[in-house]
Amino acid sequence: MTALETRQKFLEFFKKQGHTIIPSASLIPEDKTVLFITAGMQPLVPYLMGKKHPQGARLVDAQKCLRTDDILEVGDNRHLTFFEMIGNWSLGDYFKKESIAWSFELLTSKEWFGIDPQKIYVTVFEGDATLGAPQDDESIQCWKEAFATAGMDASVENGRIAMYPKKKNWWELPGEGPCGPDTEIFYDTGKAHDTVFGDTCHVNCDCGRYVEIWNNVFMEYEKKEDGSGGYAYAPLAHKNVDTGMGLERIAMVLQGKETVFEIDIFSAIIASFENKDTPYTQEARRYRIIADHLRAAVFLISEGILPSNAERGYILRNLVRRAITHAKILKLPDDFYCAPIEIIYRYYKEQYLHVPIEYIITAFAAEYSLFDKAFERGMKKFYTLVESALKTTKIIQGSDAFNLQQTDGFRLELMMDLATDAGITIDEKGFWEEYKKHQEVSRAGAEKKFGGHGMTLQTGELKAADDIELATVTRLHTATHLLQAALREVLGDHVRQRGSDITAERLRFDFIHTQKMTDEEKKRVEDIVNHHITEALPVTNKEMAIDDAEKSGALMFNKEKYGNTVQVYSIGNKENTVSHELCGGPHVVNTKEIGKFRIIKEEASSAGVRRIRATIK
Ligand code: ALA
Repeated sequence: MTALETRQKFLEFFKKQGHTIIPSASLIPEDKTVLFITAGMQPLVPYLMGKKHPQGARLVDAQKCLRTDDILEVGDNRHLTFFEMIGNWSLGDYFKKESIAWSFELLTSKEWFGIDPQKIYVTVFEGDATLGAPQDDESIQCWKEAFATAGMDASVENGRIAMYPKKKNWWELPGEGPCGPDTEIFYDTGKAHDTVFGDTCHVNCDCGRYVEIWNNVFMEYEKKEDGSGGYAYAPLAHKNVDTGMGLERIAMVLQGKETVFEIDIFSAIIASFENKDTPYTQEARRYRIIADHLRAAVFLISEGILPSNAERGYILRNLVRRAITHAKILKLPDDFYCAPIEIIYRYYKEQYLHVPIEYIITAFAAEYSLFDKAFERGMKKFYTLVESALKTTKIIQGSDAFNLQQTDGFRLELMMDLATDAGITIDEKGFWEEYKKHQEVSRAGAEKKFGGHGMTLQTGELKAADDIELATVTRLHTATHLLQAALREVLGDHVRQRGSDITAERLRFDFIHTQKMTDEEKKRVEDIVNHHITEALPVTNKEMAIDDAEKSGALMFNKEKYGNTVQVYSIGNKENTVSHELCGGPHVVNTKEIGKFRIIKEEASSAGVRRIRATIK
């Protein structure tokens, strides 16, 4: 069963139990309070708090998630940055009994996942006096009944059901919100215990013998600020179920693999760029990191994020550069990312990716060339540090190493590799101390900034003051659509709007493209726009369902950013449609109203993004 088939089966199982399949929300939370969606429940918080969901009280979905907290653990058998969380939801509908019974049935029934029930262990909340939440006896009872259907006697005494405190079996997000005890389901890989993790193994042990595959959260409490800086917990008016299963982990179990990197999608990704001289069998960790980071980066780029030095762009930059660094160590060719990106793209396109592959490759290429330059500089600086270390302690200070990573993107992993060859070491502890300090600073900055800050993805921040200005702005706005269409015609389909700003004097348009435009290209774009203006083409708009708009080929940047119903503006007629774009307007009625279009300036805006300023007369 491929991971895709596993996802499909999960959705079907719950559909059979009366759930409605809902699409994944964007990786970027709507309220922007956190950088990324890290759990399936985040986009559903309002509904868990009691708001009526338009699709009903039983939902099932696969949600894109990104967690960077565990980034340094990526490369072991089970940690990933990007992953899909599949989950079923009861919004004040069924509760523990059904939830646990269905979990057991889906996992163990031959008709569904067919896992041997003997390999399944579960954990249950043991209660917490300070929370005012008792031991979850109901879940214990439900599990006994579930295992009994397989002829098994499950109890706390015989260890099939293990009790844990709040730290392990309570789910909540930081801040206020719905929360409650959870019961987690583990798969016993049968691996020998590693005493590094303690004398005896137990279900929640970190040694990797038991792999957590599913979490059922019973959201029956609400966490609220108590007015004195702490939180108080009170029962929720309606009781919800929020479950989350890591698709890659369940696929690992169902495909009988020891690591998530051996499941169908990851083995295909890795095989596509493996260098036979530095093979996966010898360099598993590096290959896994590259595969994980490339996949996460593809999803981020397709959400409209590009590498930069701030916030989400910074995280993306880190993922891309970390992948490139390991690729360099493995001596992979400069275009190593093309084949795996194609595989990732094909695998996820239908469900999740809404931009052309050229767009993603272009963004990668841009970051690669930026990084390459810094890489050369970094090498020089690094060897200066090596020389002075050789003369003294043979250690490169943590702060020096960190500075090199910060300023030139020259990564610690790479430095450690080169250091070994040069016969010196790097003060890793010092490095991570600096890293932590820096993270705290940038997190505080990000929190401050994220209050009301969002990305402008839609055309227009119309700044007109009076009617005349408004008319000009409207004309420029339509010209912007013609400009985007002309740029795509001249430069290629990878061209996509990144930002648009219109004043009464000029339009400014940012778009994906790596190279400076030649004079000839600029001239051709101008000519095409002016040609469409003189053609006197009608501009029409239509309200459509987002899916229909997509099917009709309307340009949209990030499908999930829009509501269900959208406006699509078209320029031209049936035989000659020159532009077809999602947009809120306003626009002129006929292109002849625009006047003469002229490009004033074309320049770099940021990595992989060019900027055009243009006017009309
Ligand atoms: N919200 C639960 C989790 O993310 C299901 O584990």
